[in-house]
Amino acid sequence: MKALVLAGGAGTRLRPFSYSMPKQLIPIANKPVLAHVLENIRDLAVTDVGIIVGDRSAEIVEAVGDGSRFGLRITYIPQTEPLGLAHCVLLARDFLGEDDFVMYLGDNMLPEGVRDIAAEFRVRRPAAQVVVHKVANPQAFGVVELGADGSLLRLVEKPRVPRSDLALIGVYFFTPAVHEAVAAISPSARGELEITDAVQWLLSSGAQVTVSRYTGYWRDTGRVEDVLECNRDLLRDLEHSVEGVVDESCHIRGPIVVEAGARVTRSCIDGPAIIGAGTVVEDSHIGPNTSIGRGCELRGTHIDFSIALDGARVSHVTGLHGSLIGRGATVGPRPDRTAHHRLVVGDHTHIEVSA
Ligand code: G1P
Repeated sequence: MKALVLAGGAGTRLRPFSYSMPKQLIPIANKPVLAHVLENIRDLAVTDVGIIVGDRSAEIVEAVGDGSRFGLRITYIPQTEPLGLAHCVLLARDFLGEDDFVMYLGDNMLPEGVRDIAAEFRVRRPAAQVVVHKVANPQAFGVVELGADGSLLRLVEKPRVPRSDLALIGVYFFTPAVHEAVAAISPSARGELEITDAVQWLLSSGAQVTVSRYTGYWRDTGRVEDVLECNRDLLRDLEHSVEGVVDESCHIRGPIVVEAGARVTRSCIDGPAIIGAGTVVEDSHIGPNTSIGRGCELRGTHIDFSIALDGARVSHVTGLHGSLIGRGATVGPRPDRTAHHRLVVGDHTHIEVSA
């Protein structure tokens, strides 16, 4: 079995971050979503992985390389326009050859993995095996309708009136039968070749399509809220480890990770929280549910339920909550200490201040 990971896409719901980085590289618990994805794929004993990349391919290639760090062999497949998930299968035709494959969306987090579901597919080899999860907002997803006996009746992409609360999540298993389906369908109303339509095409043409329920934790990290909540949820299982220097005046509660070369002084760290390598924290209160990237500086700052990306600098700001601070961003008082606020913020940036 091979794997096809989709890491193109514009990431409009993750602006402004997606202006400067591929959304698949947003860190959750200080590790890019895409790295979590590739580790799950490796756990399926798959080694040949095609990654569909869009116009942010350079950063993805830089982060993942040839895949040897993950025990994988990576082939990059460029997609010049985001024309849909089924379009990605068309583009990957040569790479996939006559092999079965798992298609995995590069911004979906399934920390418990899909080993059991993959094992089921390998035994039964239906033309397609889709994975579903019960959600509160099915209209935002592809949705399956099941018969009384649990068999699949229909798949609908983002129905206005969903007939079930079982959403397709970003993992699909296929035999080469899918290639005929993706070649047969037409673009949807949003102008994309939908994988949901390709699976529906297989079903309608009498091929076997099975549905597996994933009952573990799942998040599509498409929006800032999802990223923060997913980070919080993953940090719940954090194993305490302090490799950096935490001085004696600090208060530590709950599990924390302080990576090598980080220095924490006169501060309170409320776990779960991660302080990345080489980061400096002084006179601050960090956490809970917070990941601070590498090479950051936090001084006189109170921050919880937040993520700071690498190289962020925050000084003398308290009450930061639910914040996502970009790479190399600075947040702090004016150097001349006048009472003005000065904002130099990028397009589609979102700022909320206390009333
Ligand atoms: C895509 C699929 C949808 C699926 C979702 C899971 O939606 O089209 O069927 O439920 O991923 O994350 P998109 O993220 O492209 O809107």
